[in-house]
Amino acid sequence: MKTIKTQVGIIGAGPAGLTLAHWLKKHGIEAVIIEHRSREYIQGRVRAGLLEQNTVDILKKLGLADRLVKEGQEHHGVYLNFDGKRVRVPFGQLTGGRNITIYGQQEVVKDLTEAWLAQSGQLLFEAPALELEGIETDSPKIHFEHNGEKGIVECDFIAACDGFHGLGRKSMPKDAYKEYSVTYPFSWLGILAHVAPSSEELIYAYHERGFALHSLRSEKVSRLYIQVENDDHVDNWSDEQIWEELSVRLGTEGWKLNSGPIFERSITPMRSYFIDNMQHGRLFLAGDAAHIVPPTGGKGLNLAVADVKHLVDGFRDFYEKASMQVLDNYSTIALKRIWRAQDFSNFMTTLFHKQYEHGSFHYQLQKAKFDYIQLSEAYATTIAENYVGLPFESFDALD
Ligand code: DHB
Repeated sequence: MKTIKTQVGIIGAGPAGLTLAHWLKKHGIEAVIIEHRSREYIQGRVRAGLLEQNTVDILKKLGLADRLVKEGQEHHGVYLNFDGKRVRVPFGQLTGGRNITIYGQQEVVKDLTEAWLAQSGQLLFEAPALELEGIETDSPKIHFEHNGEKGIVECDFIAACDGFHGLGRKSMPKDAYKEYSVTYPFSWLGILAHVAPSSEELIYAYHERGFALHSLRSEKVSRLYIQVENDDHVDNWSDEQIWEELSVRLGTEGWKLNSGPIFERSITPMRSYFIDNMQHGRLFLAGDAAHIVPPTGGKGLNLAVADVKHLVDGFRDFYEKASMQVLDNYSTIALKRIWRAQDFSNFMTTLFHKQYEHGSFHYQLQKAKFDYIQLSEAYATTIAENYVGLPFESFDALD
């Protein structure tokens, strides 16, 4: 039996777990990460690639942004399409100079893993957490398995950064939280293709045939998505059909979509989910373990990093001042931003997806919103400030 002693036991080496480990180390707090999957798996997992200003600032502050600064692309605006008409929402002038950066989530995971291991940080891959013990005591334990051997992480706190299907949330008593869940009646077919992006900024499009999104990863790789049925399958789509659909849905006068070989494709369901309490005793949940937003607007990773910021504030308060006050306030503080992101992600999803008949009442509401973006700088600002992410201090004004 292998026993590891540490201060914070982290389950999951995704963006939340890795950022937390690095940030705690910066403040002299020890952490160990156990990760169910292999290193290859977590580094190959294709996810969104939109980093808010806050996220970029945090990674820079932690000294983890060298490659992100070199290879990531800062965007100063976004294009929004409705029925073939395109408008641009500029970020800088509407948000006092805040922007987003496009850099794949798996690249963030690669960078943070490499840096953690290079500093001799403890991280066990292929080490599933089996059971949490004593979360209501001062010395909780994570029981895990590694190389066919059983092990225990003995710690002061457990941070469950182990995703939607992880053990963390399942280990909370059912009556410790209320659950909110909405499943959308559509999914995304996402592709990566070896082709130069057809736009220097992202394009979100509503079209009679459904939503489409043009994003990118580099000068030579494009990332695109289309709305499909929930029961659709990647094999139902040929490359030609995907490009044809993208071209029609994203189309606007005088613009052409470049196509090229598709090298990755997958279907993502769309869900809003969250629980109203992210702590039980010495167990804290962060990221997808506690909340899922539909991907429209790319908030998932950014919410995870924001949770981690609040957790770090709490752990510092505990280790530097022997106080549980900030930690015990974790859910209340984190949930303010989570609700905001739930609302914005839902707004972007319902604005740009085809759910109702063209010309119906709900369609007209979608169109009225799109028109309003062009009429009102205040409305465009609302979209811009949510899209780039509100500064942490903004939420201080709320009780
Ligand atoms: C990407 C994904 C999103 O969901 C989004 O809103 C923007 C960009 C992406 O994968 O690049």
